[in-house]
Amino acid sequence: MTTIEPVDDLGYDAIEASAMVAGDFRNPYPDLAAARERHAIQQGDFIPDIPRDPDGPQSFTVYSCELVSQVLRDNHHFSSQVYAEMMGPVMGHSILEMDEPEHKIHRALVSQAFRHKALARWEEELVGSVCDDLIDRFADAGRVDLVRGYTFPFPVQVIARILGLPRADYAKFQRWSIELISVGWDWDRGIAASQSLRDYFKGIVDQRRKEPQDDLISDLVCAEIDGQQLTDEEIFAFLRLLLPAGAETTYRSSSSLLFSLLTHPDQLDAVRNDRSLLPQAIEEGIRYEPPLLFIVRSALSDVEVGGMHVPAGSVISVGIGAANRDPAKFKDPDRFDIFRDAKQHISFGFGPHMCLGMHLARMETRVALNRLFDRLPNLRLDPDGEDVHVHGLMFRSPKTLPVLFDPA
Ligand code: HEM
Repeated sequence: MTTIEPVDDLGYDAIEASAMVAGDFRNPYPDLAAARERHAIQQGDFIPDIPRDPDGPQSFTVYSCELVSQVLRDNHHFSSQVYAEMMGPVMGHSILEMDEPEHKIHRALVSQAFRHKALARWEEELVGSVCDDLIDRFADAGRVDLVRGYTFPFPVQVIARILGLPRADYAKFQRWSIELISVGWDWDRGIAASQSLRDYFKGIVDQRRKEPQDDLISDLVCAEIDGQQLTDEEIFAFLRLLLPAGAETTYRSSSSLLFSLLTHPDQLDAVRNDRSLLPQAIEEGIRYEPPLLFIVRSALSDVEVGGMHVPAGSVISVGIGAANRDPAKFKDPDRFDIFRDAKQHISFGFGPHMCLGMHLARMETRVALNRLFDRLPNLRLDPDGEDVHVHGLMFRSPKTLPVLFDPA
């Protein structure tokens, strides 16, 4: 398979860019816990220095699991349109920023492509081979940075294969994807990549309209409910949404899960020796270190939240990370424990916009870790590696994961 390094010939390093976007914030959880203990909802922002127009809408932040679930469930009072300003210029009008009834219709159309049968086929035919191709490149070396060599590239390559892109195009697709994902760091580059992806997808969508094939783009082109189909622009917006929504989240969550396991060797051994523990390890990894700490809504009308009056138009930061560590829901929440009782976390969101790709994310993470454990015996953190840690405030993951293993 054609792959490219995350560094281009002009020295643009996608992993550096991605780390910059996340920011160098090591552990926000004590401050999140203190904020949640003070008030389940607060007026203002947790994240310092968010630029806000003093004459613009008021801002609020919710921290408790109960209020986070309430806001995400209630799409009569809370809107997702707030994403149009933040992501619209790069993505187009995608389901992420739609409210009902438009959202429900579009989500039903695109979710046809994510049905269980497709998932089983992707697992069998494509995720394992993406992982094997990547591992082949370092299995002899006995050492690798797992972020650079594995967790960063695999989700984009899975998406490329699911979309049915020609192999010869993988390298340029990966480049544009990385640039689009890094838009928070380099806006102009992100916008240019968004335009390139649109032009590129146009050719493929035209082709699939004439001659549908067995891939996700053909499914999107053919999807129909009550005679309604997706337009080209709607398909482009959805395809571009899949990159930040599907690739960036999965790269960050699988990196953080590996970090948690590598720094808890007893739990790593338990999973390595009994792979049936992988699904619960994945859930705990995503609860403990979600790739996104906050998502956003705006108030459609005046509304009471946790006893506080929130005026229409207010912007509400929804604290997924704080909710996942709420002791009212999770016992001893700051402990990474793959054996804890299963309870629903909020890392995939909640309510009508709950992650459309969560089953894919779980499946690809399970396959990726299984392949690593099968092929890299004695996998462990490199004791001489630099100070490895999860960092970031809006997005979180480790920047590097230097590991040693017994070479093939
Ligand atoms: C661990 C990995 C992932 C995490 C933590 C995650 C998290 C989330 C969250 C929190 C939302 C809700 C956003 C909101 O309500 O404002 C969301 C929505 C979404 N996710 Fe994921 N996601 C992951 C993987 C994926 C994958 C692999 C895909 C597809 C390839 C995907 C596609 C989507 C889409 C299309 C939406 C929008 C759904 C809607 O608006 O109705 N995600 N995701």
